Amino acid sequence: KNIVILISGTGSNMSAIVQQARQEDWEAAFGARVAAVISNRPDAKGLQWANAQGIATAVVDHKQFPSREAFDAALAQQVDAFAPALVVLAGFMRVLTPGFVAHFAGRMVNIHPSLLPAFPGLHTHQRALDAGCKFAGTSVHWVTQELDGGPIIDQAVVPVLAGDDADTLAARVLTQEHILYPRAIRQVLPQLAAVQASAPTETASA
Ligand code: GRF
Repeated sequence: KNIVILISGTGSNMSAIVQQARQEDWEAAFGARVAAVISNRPDAKGLQWANAQGIATAVVDHKQFPSREAFDAALAQQVDAFAPALVVLAGFMRVLTPGFVAHFAGRMVNIHPSLLPAFPGLHTHQRALDAGCKFAGTSVHWVTQELDGGPIIDQAVVPVLAGDDADTLAARVLTQEHILYPRAIRQVLPQLAAVQASAPTETASA
């Protein structure tokens, strides 16, 4: 069962997943392995780290495509090349088209830094502070057509402390994400079907 992780930046969640997979030997336990890390930004720090771990990496630079649809088509083709049983969005900062989401339906998860269904979308920490929330957190969920709206797999809660700003709260949440995300993936692995690599289609050229 191939896991393909999509990132846009630091990739600290991605590295937490890779390390947990190694520590717990997901290959032996679930026949699962992180097959590739793909970024939409060539300068994403996480790419170098993944490379150094001997994991295949690829870049599909959104700036090279005239439209979101064209980018998503190229991205889907690149992801499909690794025959993923599970696609993991880990700080992947592009909104995906309905076609992309449909293609990976039932095998794509995301982590969102709020206690969903509260605060979908951007600036979650500031919005939680502005609302006077006493608790904040993060959610791992299945990706559906509704942005940050799919069924929740697992969540972690952190307290909001006096004197918090968006940065201190984000840092507290991120620490929990590194525990939550690998755990949530481990939880769904047994229910996933392996995907056979197929010959590339002749129609698509990006
Ligand atoms: C995480 O907080 C995630 O919830 C949000 O972006 C951040 C990604 O951090 N969507 P990293 O790239 O995994 O370090």
